[in-house]
Amino acid sequence: MRYKKRKYFLAGRINLIQRSKIRELFEKARKMENVISLGIGEPDFDTPQVIKEAAKRALDEGYTHYTPNAGIPEFREAIAEYYRTHYKVDVSPEDIIVTAGAYEATYLAFETLLEEGDDVIIPDPAFVSYVEDAKIAEAGIIRIPLREENEFQVDPDELVEAITKRTRMLVINYPNNPTGAVLRKKVVKAIADIAEDYNIYILSDEPYEHFLYEGAKHYPMIKYAPDNTVLANSFSKTFAMTGWRLGFTIAPRQVIRDMIKLHAYIIGNVASFVQMAGITALRDKRSWEALERMRQTYAERRRITLKHLEKMPHVTPFRPRGAFYIWAKIDPSLDMSSEDFAEWLLENAGVVVIPGTAFGKAGEGWIRISYATKKDQLVEAMHRMHEALSKL
Ligand SMILES: Cc1ncc(COP(=O)(O)O)c(C=O)c1O
Repeated sequence: MRYKKRKYFLAGRINLIQRSKIRELFEKARKMENVISLGIGEPDFDTPQVIKEAAKRALDEGYTHYTPNAGIPEFREAIAEYYRTHYKVDVSPEDIIVTAGAYEATYLAFETLLEEGDDVIIPDPAFVSYVEDAKIAEAGIIRIPLREENEFQVDPDELVEAITKRTRMLVINYPNNPTGAVLRKKVVKAIADIAEDYNIYILSDEPYEHFLYEGAKHYPMIKYAPDNTVLANSFSKTFAMTGWRLGFTIAPRQVIRDMIKLHAYIIGNVASFVQMAGITALRDKRSWEALERMRQTYAERRRITLKHLEKMPHVTPFRPRGAFYIWAKIDPSLDMSSEDFAEWLLENAGVVVIPGTAFGKAGEGWIRISYATKKDQLVEAMHRMHEALSKL
């Protein structure tokens, strides 16, 4: 189609959204040859066969129609059952809405709970979508820096200090993208108590709940602050299902009812056969066995990557206990910004990493390395980085 050369008028709100800075780096990398990307934030595994078979079967059985907006009742029951058995949390199907991944879950939370005049506290660094969601919701954004000396956990005292009369919501994400930090039970409880005392919502984004290492445990926020928590979760990472767009939210049912109103007009419902495959993912032991195999593979890659990084000049990794990222500090004496460093690595080592500033100002001086990459590629990338950095 050849469109007329004219000015298209757009709603101001759309200009509030910043396209991810990471994209520019990827664009540059795409034009180069022999580049290894440690930038990707998605599993390199294929979805377990048992889940694929369930989707095919569902199609053949006629799951090709609309479903209730909140999701297929049996699927909502399977999610509730999972929380009851896995975490001993008393969740009912009415507390759940099935969403198109955690992206939609967080978007719904922002749009349903915040408006102009409200503030939301977002830790820094944080996954990129929260800030953009907040802008669209016209909420004020308060960032609280996460620090290495606290193992990148939210400091409850700093959280209390950041709360004002306008504060409506805190966003928390653990295991964390980009730092790989997990939250200690004590910190989860402290955050839960603060949210209750100050009557604020916690949007708790927990899609990496199963990617835990060195004995780390996950404590879902809904267990500790059920009346204040809007939990976002997803099948994307757990069962390597990023392309399926399957996630859910658990929240007090009054909130869920209002989220459904918006969801009904943007998505309607998540694809019916995808929801049916979700039931199998949760109830068939073969999908859990596949998950454990993936987790063990990530654990090995994590160990190898850390071993290399610990010996490498000019970078110091934080030891993450969750997710599939390593947050590494750039030697300050190099006097290079995160973006310059990432670009330098691309040009001199042919390796893509994400500059920490993509996740907030506090990410300056850091890079994110994803180990959701095949082992031989990871090792090759580590060798290339070591060699290039030795020359600096
Ligand atoms: C912390 C976090 N939240 C949410 C998402 C969105 O995931 P999805 O919509 O595929 O569930 C991601 C994806 O990378 C993520 O890292």
